[in-house]
Formats: sequence, structure tokens, C-alpha cells
Amino acid sequence: MVTLLAGSRIGRVLPGGACPDCNVAAMEINDVAVVGLGTMGAGIAEVFARAGIGVVAIEVDAAALNRGVGILDASLSRAVSRGRLTASEQADIRSRVRPATAFSEAARVDLAIEVVPEQLQIKHQIFAELDRVCSPAAILATNTSSLSVTAIAAATRRPGRVVGMHFFNPAPVMRLVEVVSTVLSDDGVPEAVAELARRLGKTPVQVGDRAGFVANALLLPYLNHAVSLLDTGYAAAADIDLAVTAGIGLPMGPLALLDLIGLDTSLSILEVLRGEFGLPRYIPAPLLRRLTAAGRTGRKSGRGIYDYADNGTNDNHQDGNEASTPPDTVTLIGSGDEAEADLATAMASAGINVTRNAAHPSDLVLIAAAAGRPVLPAALAAGRPEQSVGLHLPGGLHEPGGLQAGSLAEIVQTSLSSSGAVATGMALAGRLGLTAVRAADRPGFLVGALLYPHLADAVRMAQDGYASPADIDAAMTLGCGYPQGPFQLLDAAGPAAVLAGLEAMYDAYGYPAFAPPPLLAEHAAAGIPFGGRSPAAR
Ligand code: 3HC
Repeated sequence: MVTLLAGSRIGRVLPGGACPDCNVAAMEINDVAVVGLGTMGAGIAEVFARAGIGVVAIEVDAAALNRGVGILDASLSRAVSRGRLTASEQADIRSRVRPATAFSEAARVDLAIEVVPEQLQIKHQIFAELDRVCSPAAILATNTSSLSVTAIAAATRRPGRVVGMHFFNPAPVMRLVEVVSTVLSDDGVPEAVAELARRLGKTPVQVGDRAGFVANALLLPYLNHAVSLLDTGYAAAADIDLAVTAGIGLPMGPLALLDLIGLDTSLSILEVLRGEFGLPRYIPAPLLRRLTAAGRTGRKSGRGIYDYADNGTNDNHQDGNEASTPPDTVTLIGSGDEAEADLATAMASAGINVTRNAAHPSDLVLIAAAAGRPVLPAALAAGRPEQSVGLHLPGGLHEPGGLQAGSLAEIVQTSLSSSGAVATGMALAGRLGLTAVRAADRPGFLVGALLYPHLADAVRMAQDGYASPADIDAAMTLGCGYPQGPFQLLDAAGPAAVLAGLEAMYDAYGYPAFAPPPLLAEHAAAGIPFGGRSPAAR
């Protein structure tokens, strides 16, 4: 069960467990060791040093150490250049970091955290060294994303003092720290680590030792699904990412986020999730494996889904999109709803002639598309399916929605739409001030296809009793920068609408991952949002 660690729980005087000098409540954590200075390790070292805590920064050899310290220095210099730090603060922070290549340098630290690649064997070696050199009172923490903290703890001589302390990338920015306790944890140790996280300006969430904890268990299958959509040609990379940023309001699209996390790291986490839960949603997309095998591991290697070689930013071009001009005349087909009326008004204001008669000549047949209704039947009924596309406004998920400037329009391409019609539809959306993506004429179009299974995973996690909706929302907003957590998104869209979307996806594909969880069906039937009370006391 997950518990947001309330201030009152932290720092309670608690018994210290097996070690007589190990009263953690009395223990001040003022000196730490960070083992492994990759992107995450360097970021975590920065976070400690910024909070006034001394850091022994350990790497395997001088070259790796230089690289790691370079990441830290670059981050601090960027903060100075942005006016977020003064040069003297930078010097102070830097003076607290003591680079080292020998574990013996960690002999006097109060806590050591391991931030090395996700391989249990390497973690065991590191913990054996730390167990040997650190004082018996020291807490040993792992930043593992998904491996069993219990298995890591059990292999040490101080299993009660080994916990997970899971930061999020970029560590200096993301506010969540998952504090992972195990059945072996001594009383007070997770609380002491949570208190430390608060001193770092983070929000600790206490979680049980389950693969992926809260955030990764939800994030990774969603990222994996996005790679599958790319891999199968369902949508282009830029469209997938734009659908999520413009359509759902998340800070990054799933493919850009994979590049940030690292494709290799993501692959490892998925393998662990698959091993623990065995569900098809965790089977890594073939493209993820291929890119990782090719060394295209993301930003850190200069190339992942996107190419960062030129300027360090991703190459977000609209691949395969023909340049086109907006139509002069549009045949608008709809069901007489508000979306259709809004579209007609917007086109008229933009100087586009609108006709409702399919027999009239026009440059484009535009179907005002609605969730759960395929576009193709309307395109066939209009008699010009090659010249027809749908336009769907997945509003209501976040503000602003509808036809407001910059909000998302899905240009729905049926199996008969010509590429010229799609390009004209994209140009039309641009003319109306909308952000446009191309979407397949399948259930959920693009935004729903990405979002609904993600929301279903969150509901399943709550249904399993692992975490409450409020804690899941907290984890995803603080750890992944979601402006709204999955349950807030779900309530905004409406449980019944999400249920209908999932049912349509499940009917079309038959994939178990799309099967709506019973708890969602219960909320939809009872008309109760997840922010409200549960449908029934269980
Ligand atoms: N290191 C330090 N600071 C950084 C940084 C980095 N790598 N990247 C960005 N920042 C800082 C910037 O300096 C800036 O700070 P300032 O406002 O004080 O000047 C601030 O963050 C915002 O940065 P930018 O303006 O450059 O860029 P954005 O506004 O686009 O934000 C982002 C960048 C914070 C990365 C944002 O896109 C975001 O929140 N993305 C989601 C990231 C996410 O989901 N992380 C979790 C991944 S899962 C994970 O890590 C678990 C692991 O186990 C796999």
C-alpha cells in the first residue's frame, strides 16, 4: 500500500532495529555517498549538495568520474547562466562534492545511494562493497527503477537498513521521491529517508516493494504502447508526441520522454515488469529492442527515437506530411452537434466557404468526427471518400479544449482518404489556428488510443489496492510533471466516456490490455468520479 508520508509520521522516535547505534530518528544525515555518476547519479549528487549535504561522488575509474563530474558542472553552470544560482553559490555547492574512485571514501557517510545500471548482479557487488566499508549505522539506498529492493537488501548484512530511494529524471527538477520499504526494513529507516527527501525539497511517497513501484509501473507500459503505435505505422513519431503534449497537456510526448529516460533503461524496466506481472502490455515493442541493440539509447547517446546530433533538441519534423494550402471550399458533414456548429463558424470566420451538400463541388469533405464513431461510413455516404477526412477535437481532457487557438485537432485518415486530402485537412486545421496531428480511423483515434489504456492501468493499480487514486495522481504529477494526475484526467473526460473508449478498443483488437477494469465500469455505472467516493465499501 502506498502512503504519502505526512510530516507527522516523519521523524517520529522509533526503535532502531538490530543495530544498537542505529536510532534513525536521532540520526542526522549530513554526509552521503552517491555511487554511479551517470545522468541520474550526477543529478542526485547535485540535489544533495544543493541542500547543504556533503557528497562523496564515486565512480569506477577516473574517466567515468570526469564524465560524471562534467554532467554536474554543466548543470550548475546552466543554472548560473539562467540567473538561478550565483557564482559563489555554485562554488559552495561544488565544494561539498568530493569525487572519488574508491569505496573506502564512503566509510564515514550516513547514507550511501547506488545509482548504477539496472542489473541485479552489479547492484549486489556495489552493496557488498558498501556493506563492508560503511558504518553499521549507515543506511544503504538504491535508486533502482524496478528491481526488487528486498533481493538487494537480503544479500547484505544489514537488510533492515536497506531501502529504495527512487528519484525521477531530471533529478534536480522532478519533485517525487519514492521511498521503498521492504518486509525486512527496520522501523524508522524509511521515515528517516523520507525526512531526508523533504530536506532536499522533494515530496516522499512511501511505496511497497513491487516492480515499477507506482510511477514506472504506469509510465512504462504507456511509453511502450507509444513505441508500438510508431512501430506498426499507426502514427508518426511527431504526431504521437504532439497528441500527448497538445491534446493531454503532459510536459513531454512519450517518445521524447523515452529518449530522456534512455531506451535501454526503459527496456530493462519493462523486462522486470513483464517478469513480475506477466502481462502482454509489458512485452517490449520490437522497435524498442532494435533501437537499444543499435546503441540508439536516447539523448545520452545522441540518438534514440529522435536525433540529437545537431543541436541537442529532437528533430520534430512532420515526417511524411505533404505541404498543402488550406481549402477554399469545404463540404462539412456532421451530426448537427456543437462540434459541427463550432467548426462551421470557425471556417466561415476564416473566410472558407462551407457547404453541407455533398453534391456541391468542394476542395475537401470534412467529417466532424466524434469519439466512438468511425469516419469511413460518413465518408462513403458523402460519395467522395478519397477527398474526405475527419476532424476530431479531443477537448475536455485539459484546458483549453475545443476550437481555442493552439488546441488539438486530430485529422482522421480513413483507409480511402488520399494523402492530398489529409494534407489539405492538416492545412485547414492550421488555418483555423489549431494544432493538428494525423490519426487513424480506429477507436480512440490517436489521443484516446494512447490515453485510455494508460488510464485503465491506473484504475487497475487502484483496484489491486496497491495505491489510492490520490496517491497515484500525486506520483504522476510530482514524478512526471503531469499537470493533472491520471484520475483527474479520467474524471475530466468522464468515467463513462473512458469506459466506452476502452470497450471500443477492446472490441476492435481483442487485446486484454484494453479490457476495461471492473472498477472503471462501476464508477461509470454509478456516475461517480474517482475524486468522489468509491462506488461501494469493500
Ligand atoms: N538538469 C537540471 N535541470 C534541468 C534539466 C536537467 N537535465 N532539464 C531541465 N532543467 C531545468 C531547467 O534548467 C529549468 O529550470 P529553471 O526554470 O530554474 O530555469 C527547468 O528545468 C525547465 O526546463 P526547460 O525550460 O529547459 O524545459 P521544459 O520547461 O521543457 O521542462 C522538463 C523540461 C522539466 C524535463 C519537463 O519537460 C518535464 O517535466 N518532463 C517530464 C519528465 C519526466 O516525466 N520525468 C520522469 C521520467 S521517469 C523516471 O525518471 C523514472 C526512472 O526510473 C526511469
